[in-house]
Amino acid sequence: MLDFMMKKFVYIYTYGCQMNVHDSEKMLGTLENSGYAVTEHPEQADLIIFNTCAIREKAEQKFYSQLGRSKFLKNKRPGVKIAVAGCIAQDAQRRVFKRAPYVDFVIGPQNIHMLSDIVCGDTSLHTEENPDISYRQYEMRRESKTRAWVSIMYGCNNFCSYCIVPFTRGRELSRPSSSIISEIRQLRQKGYVEVTLLGQNVNSYNSDMDFVQLLREISRIGMDRVRFITSHPRDLSPALIDAIAELTGLCEHLHLPLQSGSDIILQKMNRRYSYSGYLEKVLMVREKVPGIAITTDLIIGFPGETQKDYDQTVNAVREIEFDGIFGFNYSRRNGTLAYDMDEQIPDSVKSERLNNVLKIQDDISLKKNRALEGTNQEILIEGPSASNKHLLMGRTRTNKIVTIEDSGETEGTLLSAYIEKARHHSLKGTKR
Ligand code: 5AD
Ligand code: SF4
Repeated sequence: MLDFMMKKFVYIYTYGCQMNVHDSEKMLGTLENSGYAVTEHPEQADLIIFNTCAIREKAEQKFYSQLGRSKFLKNKRPGVKIAVAGCIAQDAQRRVFKRAPYVDFVIGPQNIHMLSDIVCGDTSLHTEENPDISYRQYEMRRESKTRAWVSIMYGCNNFCSYCIVPFTRGRELSRPSSSIISEIRQLRQKGYVEVTLLGQNVNSYNSDMDFVQLLREISRIGMDRVRFITSHPRDLSPALIDAIAELTGLCEHLHLPLQSGSDIILQKMNRRYSYSGYLEKVLMVREKVPGIAITTDLIIGFPGETQKDYDQTVNAVREIEFDGIFGFNYSRRNGTLAYDMDEQIPDSVKSERLNNVLKIQDDISLKKNRALEGTNQEILIEGPSASNKHLLMGRTRTNKIVTIEDSGETEGTLLSAYIEKARHHSLKGTKR
């Protein structure tokens, strides 16, 4: 009883990408290990962590408005500690305290291994570089019992001219293969069926082996499904394409951010490939891995994007026929090269162009999904469907969402579903 009463509670807000989702698992794991319990209610927490994302202004605004509200919690319970972690913490550093003096700790992504000590101590700013990051073992409180994130590398060396990530996550560092492999082996023993390998640019994984060798080693562990994100088109090698074709556990899905269909813009973005080079790789992938799903990211309204440049992006979307795209208005990030570029595009133009390309893609997504009607697909059950809790939701190996009747299957079940009907962003199936 006493033990329970003395227990401290932590609540975490997570914004941004899968790296951040996984960092939150690491932070909660570390804290649990030193006696904290996780709560679902911020008003009950002794420690509130904001794991932030700096990639676009919108993500930043969302965080700051939520942070503003946490001030009231602190007024009500003065003992509450507030920690700002993640990419905004690293980017803004002391400026977080200026903007929100009630924040107790600012902790960059390379400092989360010290979290338990940090929240007991008095020093408030923890954003120093950590060259050991790739050798660390973390306690983790994983959200799922069947699908796991596995970091294979940290940081990014690409310096795309729009992107803040190289500044917030530092230089590329790869984890030793032995430590990745033993983590995945343990996951398999615990009954996990899927792992997603995480890195800003997984194709440039380079420790005691390269990415393709790593995939070959991992595939011997016998996980049902192995995914990886994100790939840079420049580093997508024929050897990797062969590996996707050969290794049975590797899922038939490739997320390959194109960003723009215009060579002029790609060059200004410092992407180091041309549209034709990108297309060539897509064709090679499709030839060697029939039925593979390819998704992409697009940035609309990069500085200097003319109507012609934009039209080339639309043409690329029409020509390639992606299975899905994530489209974003270009957002100016302080400290990046593109911040100071001439010819910034007005928001209204960006939004109009973005809406237009998303509408074009909608028809393509539907067409792609329709091609699956009448086929059987292996799906991995994730849980209740978000739109209707009486249905179950699972994913195909190609990462498409399938909803089926709930006949009691639990998370992590693999089953065969007959695809009855295609929708824009999901499929309706029945158990076969
Ligand atoms: N503005 C808009 N989108 C961005 N992305 C990265 N930086 C920016 C930015 N400054 C997008 C890219 C990347 C995805 C994760 O976020 O498309 O692939
Ligand atoms: Fe992830 Fe980039 Fe956002 Fe950081 S800034 S959380 S790396 S998307």
